[in-house]
Amino acid sequence: MEKIVIKIKRFNGEREWFQEYTVSVTERTTLIEALMELQGSIDPSLSFRVQCRAAICGTCGVKINGEYHVLACKTKIKEFIKNGIITVEPLSNMKVIKDLVTDHGEFLYKIKDVKGWFEPAEEFQRVYPEDLQKFEKETDCILCGICYSICPAFEIDRDFGGPINFVKVFRFWKDKNDALKDERIVIAEKNHITSCVHCKYCTFSCPKQIPVEQDIMQIEFYGKQKGIIKSSESGGGFSTPFGF
Ligand code: SF4
Ligand code: SF4
Ligand code: FES
Repeated sequence: MEKIVIKIKRFNGEREWFQEYTVSVTERTTLIEALMELQGSIDPSLSFRVQCRAAICGTCGVKINGEYHVLACKTKIKEFIKNGIITVEPLSNMKVIKDLVTDHGEFLYKIKDVKGWFEPAEEFQRVYPEDLQKFEKETDCILCGICYSICPAFEIDRDFGGPINFVKVFRFWKDKNDALKDERIVIAEKNHITSCVHCKYCTFSCPKQIPVEQDIMQIEFYGKQKGIIKSSESGGGFSTPFGF
């Protein structure tokens, strides 16, 4: 056991401040275990979200040391301690409700804007393993919002649909039994997919290793080839291996 300091950004609806707590951790202690211990033994007023503790429900996202956006239940605290301290803040790009609890409403409502659900085609086609492979990874999305939190595109465009929602577009666009087909690309364009600056932060941070930026790139590339998305609208002037 080792004593470390957890510095947490607090918010009570009126003001925000950083508060430091000393807790004992081992090599295996996860951030969520430390927060639960802290809340149970030191400060019951601290708020954070937790449910499954197994990287499945997607509720426990937080930001640590100002740069890593992670699931608290999947993160071993010792790996992020610097000079005996770890800093924990709520996710970015969404409203803070209290302490580490953020409002996931913004990105969840945007799922509606992109029709992020299956629309069955009239005739069902048999599905083979190679069909599933095209979007299998994207079905792992747990709606944690970590990609949404880390995305810099919101600095220039608050109406950007966000990486999480373009993962949904990709997943159903690749499904041969989905009825919307190219309408999904039109929807992506309407939700400002070209505001993506292709930094890949979403891909590197996704706890489910979904190739988020690559999915966005594929949608944009296809949309531009088909004339659905205008080439001149490419986000931030970023140049891609495809030359658009
Ligand atoms: S690659 Fe695009 S969607 Fe992903 S974090 Fe960067 S700007 Fe956002
Ligand atoms: S794509 Fe990854 S980071 Fe984004 S919401 Fe889904 S699981 Fe979370
Ligand atoms: S508590 Fe469910 S993903 Fe962390």
